[in-house]
Amino acid sequence: MTIRAATNEDTRVTRHRSWAEPWKIKVVEPIRMTTASDRKRHIEEAGYNTFLLHSEHVYIDLLTDSGTSAMSDRQWAGMMLGDEAYAGSRNYYALEDAVRTYYGFPELIPTHQGRGAEHLLSTILIKPGDHVPGNMYFTTTRAHQELAGATFHDVIIDEAHDPTSEHPFKGDVDLGKLSTLVKRYGASRIPYVSVAATVNLAGGQPIRLANLRQVADFCRMHGIKVILDATRAVENAWFIQQREPGMRHVTVAEILKMMCECADGATMSGKKDSLVNIGGWLALRDRGLAEQARGLVVVYEGLHTYGGLAGRDMEAMAIGIAESVEEDYIRSRIGQVHYLGQQLIGLGVPVVKPLGGHAVFLDAAAMLPHIPRSEFPAQALASALYVESGVRAMERGTVSAGRDPETGENRTPSLELVRLTIPRRVYTQAHMDVVAESVAEVFDRRRYVRGLRFTYEPKLLRFFQARFELVARPAASVVTEMGSDSNSREIGEIGVRLQ
Ligand code: F0G
Repeated sequence: MTIRAATNEDTRVTRHRSWAEPWKIKVVEPIRMTTASDRKRHIEEAGYNTFLLHSEHVYIDLLTDSGTSAMSDRQWAGMMLGDEAYAGSRNYYALEDAVRTYYGFPELIPTHQGRGAEHLLSTILIKPGDHVPGNMYFTTTRAHQELAGATFHDVIIDEAHDPTSEHPFKGDVDLGKLSTLVKRYGASRIPYVSVAATVNLAGGQPIRLANLRQVADFCRMHGIKVILDATRAVENAWFIQQREPGMRHVTVAEILKMMCECADGATMSGKKDSLVNIGGWLALRDRGLAEQARGLVVVYEGLHTYGGLAGRDMEAMAIGIAESVEEDYIRSRIGQVHYLGQQLIGLGVPVVKPLGGHAVFLDAAAMLPHIPRSEFPAQALASALYVESGVRAMERGTVSAGRDPETGENRTPSLELVRLTIPRRVYTQAHMDVVAESVAEVFDRRRYVRGLRFTYEPKLLRFFQARFELVARPAASVVTEMGSDSNSREIGEIGVRLQ
């Protein structure tokens, strides 16, 4: 057998080239590893709810990508340009300009964060008894719709509910489902369709531009508004660029604009795409509606030129908007999420596929079939991961879904997930390696994770402040499988190896 020597040419073709983050680190914030026995105590004290942990007890914090971004040197410089006038701050005009330039909406109402915008929007558009269709619910968005008297209806395509479906645009709206709703309730009872891009609870999944346009056409025909949840629309635009036919050479900034053209208005949490620690906005095309929103913002948030934000926050958000659509940035942002996801897939851990934009979602129902949904497998898995490694994740399953306001019963969503959410520009690939190893460790010992039950259940958005306790050890399984060693291996003890 002859072995052909590789020519320079061959080497160039086959050599793997790595990519790296398009920034270097100027300021660091030390983080500290704790011991497993400390973490066991901390999670018990936190009622097995990762929201109730002190962040200083967390090693790698993947609770959320919301408000956790590292700002750039330019954004920090912008903070020094804060014009803290009560009215008419120049930073407001900079923000208005950025929203017009990159999102294309003429009317801007700043709010302290996304849910502030959702509150204003739901109050001006919804009448009690109305119906709001959307591509899967989001917790705060639906809570505001329900508080205003509407019923939310999920019109996302079926594939979104299947964590194993490889559909490239699981955020798409099912036009058939939407049209059935319009027939059933009448267009006059549907003030708007709530379209999220990307869809957080489906796993950070994108919607196609073509689908968004179909929704817009359908709604225009029926006199129904389209409101975009633009929280992660830049990430959605990147998926459109990568996956939608004909979009490969269109810039992310141009795609974002095209997406917004389909909508009559948008709510925004600047704490995600826009790379700031606080801030949001409501944007509208209609002047009259914007005036109504301005009438309310002064009651709930602050004057219409600051909406609960300091001038410096608005400046940082204006700069962050421009940075968020830079191609290098967005490629590495989603590249890092996929780097972690690919490792977990390689290890055989069940995750939502395809990988989404802001997080890797572990399929807790698949990982922990021995825990019934009534004992909150995703909540239990998030606790176990924390005890194992100090990595903090978030439940996105039965606890987040809450109770049906009509029946009072627990909603049981099709997806029972744990979200490993990647903050923007904060962690390196080495952190991602540690996370993957930690998840793999819990995965190997998954059958020792125990279910949970409520000890305290808040009425609204219960996942934030609920407390739990471990359910009594289930039927003999632990003992039979692990013998006398069992006690040191179940949840609460997982992680001993890392001490
Ligand atoms: N819409 C989406 C899709 C969101 O993900 C969020 C927040 C909001 C609206 C509300 O924005 O937090 O600024 O009031 N999501 C955070 C998360 C909390 O962790 O996913 P907010």
